[in-house]
Amino acid sequence: MSDRRIEDLLARMTWAEKLGQLQITYHPDPARTRALISAGMGSIFWQGDAEATNAMQRHAVENTRLGIPLLVGLDVIHGQRTIFPTPLALAASFEPRHAEQVASVSGREAASGGVNWTFSPMIDVSRDPRWGRIVEGFGEDVLLNSCFGAAMVRGYQGDDLSAADAIAATAKHFVGYGQPEGGRDYNTADMSEYRLRNVYLPPFQAVVEAGAASVMASFNTIDGLPVHANRRLLTGVLREEWGFDGVTVGDADGVMNLIPHGIAANAADALKLAFAAGLNVEMGGNVVADGVPTLSEAELSPVVVDAAVRRVLALKTALGLFERPYVVAEREIVAATPEHRDIARRMAPDTMVLLKNDGDLLPLADRERILVTGPYAESTDHLGAWVQAFATPAGRIVDALRERLPGTDVVVSAGASFLGTDEAALRAAAASQAAEIGFAIVFAGEPSNISGEAASRSDLRLPGEQEALIHAIADTGVPFVVVLESGRPLVVSDWFDRAPAVLQAWHLGTEAPAAIVSALMGETAPSGKLPASFPRSSGQVPTHYSHDNTGRPATTGGSMAPTTWDPALHGPNNVDDKYASKYLDLDLGPLLPFGHGLTYTRFEYSGARLREGDVALNALRDGATFGLEITLTNVGDRAGDEVVQLYTHDVVAHRVQPVRVLRRFTRVHLEAGESRAVSFELGFDDLAFWSESHSVPGFDVEPGAFEVFIGGSSEAPLAARITVGAPQHALSREPIAHRYARSTQASTTGVAS
Ligand code: GLC
Repeated sequence: MSDRRIEDLLARMTWAEKLGQLQITYHPDPARTRALISAGMGSIFWQGDAEATNAMQRHAVENTRLGIPLLVGLDVIHGQRTIFPTPLALAASFEPRHAEQVASVSGREAASGGVNWTFSPMIDVSRDPRWGRIVEGFGEDVLLNSCFGAAMVRGYQGDDLSAADAIAATAKHFVGYGQPEGGRDYNTADMSEYRLRNVYLPPFQAVVEAGAASVMASFNTIDGLPVHANRRLLTGVLREEWGFDGVTVGDADGVMNLIPHGIAANAADALKLAFAAGLNVEMGGNVVADGVPTLSEAELSPVVVDAAVRRVLALKTALGLFERPYVVAEREIVAATPEHRDIARRMAPDTMVLLKNDGDLLPLADRERILVTGPYAESTDHLGAWVQAFATPAGRIVDALRERLPGTDVVVSAGASFLGTDEAALRAAAASQAAEIGFAIVFAGEPSNISGEAASRSDLRLPGEQEALIHAIADTGVPFVVVLESGRPLVVSDWFDRAPAVLQAWHLGTEAPAAIVSALMGETAPSGKLPASFPRSSGQVPTHYSHDNTGRPATTGGSMAPTTWDPALHGPNNVDDKYASKYLDLDLGPLLPFGHGLTYTRFEYSGARLREGDVALNALRDGATFGLEITLTNVGDRAGDEVVQLYTHDVVAHRVQPVRVLRRFTRVHLEAGESRAVSFELGFDDLAFWSESHSVPGFDVEPGAFEVFIGGSSEAPLAARITVGAPQHALSREPIAHRYARSTQASTTGVAS
């Protein structure tokens, strides 16, 4: 529909009809939903299948005065019928193309049923695994969230939003939701503008640049103002700075939450605040209640309302809904197809993270008998958070093992439930079987229902008595493997040293059992890297790799004894390590760092080199770039994938800089013995940080030294030191997704070994 047609429609709309376009709600009773549509509601949640959704569309198009078709929304987060690895698991692949494919397939399945708007991707940087929704985003890093979020927008929306299998993406939750105080969902997430601009906003800018059709406001406050009523963010940053011209939608009841937030006295106040701040669509059905507008034209600016309605009509136009409001019900995809299952299974090894593998216990050798124990041995709960009831379920790992190992006696002994207590007899039986059989696999983890929204946990250890089960198996002295399935990073410190091999298998969805067994048997090789740190204890969070050095960095942890004093590290006055930033009762740093992950072969890095001279470094703002190269060699006896990561550190700047920031990553496949040169190209945007240190806030690359680290985790060694000769300032940066794409195009050049 052209702008003229939108204007024509707008001119004919009554006040109630306009407001009706500015809300979405869900009601289980179709008759009630039909009545709401008759009263002008312009958006609904998916009705459960194509037929029912077509019926509601038909009611809107044929039985309302103006026949405006409906937006049909749904949370299609990591699958619709086919369930894929959770977003955090996808991030572990460090391969955004997987996320794009998940979004494309999920969008196709959802669109076939009449969904045309998904509330995904979630790109809330999160550094606190107590927050259950860490599972729903792409972890602790800015670049990962940016690249994966942009990839999902491309997957959902494709090149043409009006295509039959395209659905509108929603970047959420704008903004800062991933840092709630205490890791408690919905809690205050107050932070400095400096952190907001350098950590939490960039992924949203990347996703807006990728063309996201809508943005969802977050429940939290920033600067003491809930984002649902925060004009500086919803309009100032999103629209005036970034030029976003899509639809802004509230989170469920997010507008009405302004009342308990204490900034609105009633529903009318809340709506006025939200629409004035720049929200376009309220999720909750309070704008027009039972056909009666909550606000009159005297209470809500018609200019604001018209602008919001235009955006909603423009989205419906872009989706092609005026021309094609219905789907062909006979073509609805109602279950995971073999093709989609295959896609889910093939990407799974890239998401699994081999945390340790002492003595190369994995892949499993052929054995006559195996004991499998732990709640995930027989559970079918592999789908993870944010999965709807109509998803295609997963099977059981024990069945997948027996199918794959027909000649092996796979003995099951529960050992523990997910959340149970007083299970000493269960684990004694499992331990006894383990001792008799001589080998065990413990399938442990957290069930999906204590992960995701409204699932914050104060204690991040394995729930129930699963830790006791692992100790009981370890006490037998037989070799054993632990397979962990969880939505979030867990605290595994209590037993980690006793387990020879530990595989983090997240929640991998419909194909989880087959994928996990394939990886255990070595048919595939886990090659993921941690997208979020594994803390040593729940009390250590938030903990992440891109932290500040502080004025008193510690060099030893967990000890009150002073250690050697290094003036270069401790500064001129700190005579020992006691007065340093650490815990008395904990070693330093996370148990497992961001970017960590092993595989079934080994890689060596050598020959790190700066590809160009310093001259490029002084003209970065003018588009000059510089290159870094390193040689990667597969020194093992089987082919494998390595995710090469490049981090920078701005040694001295006018604002404190993180000790490392991920700037590039690329997945490289090498045959046994093969070597390759891996090269990265960086520019201004990769060294710049946002600050308000100029008359006009913007991005700075400062003169001075930068350290560059390249390797297989955030603990990568120093690869090069570069010196920027002159200060360089810009008001904006190149879109992150463009920078990442440039790097992967030039990332590897084959060099015969
Ligand atoms: C929930 C979530 C949001 C989701 C919305 C609609 O409260 O916060 O992510 O899209 O409601 O289901």
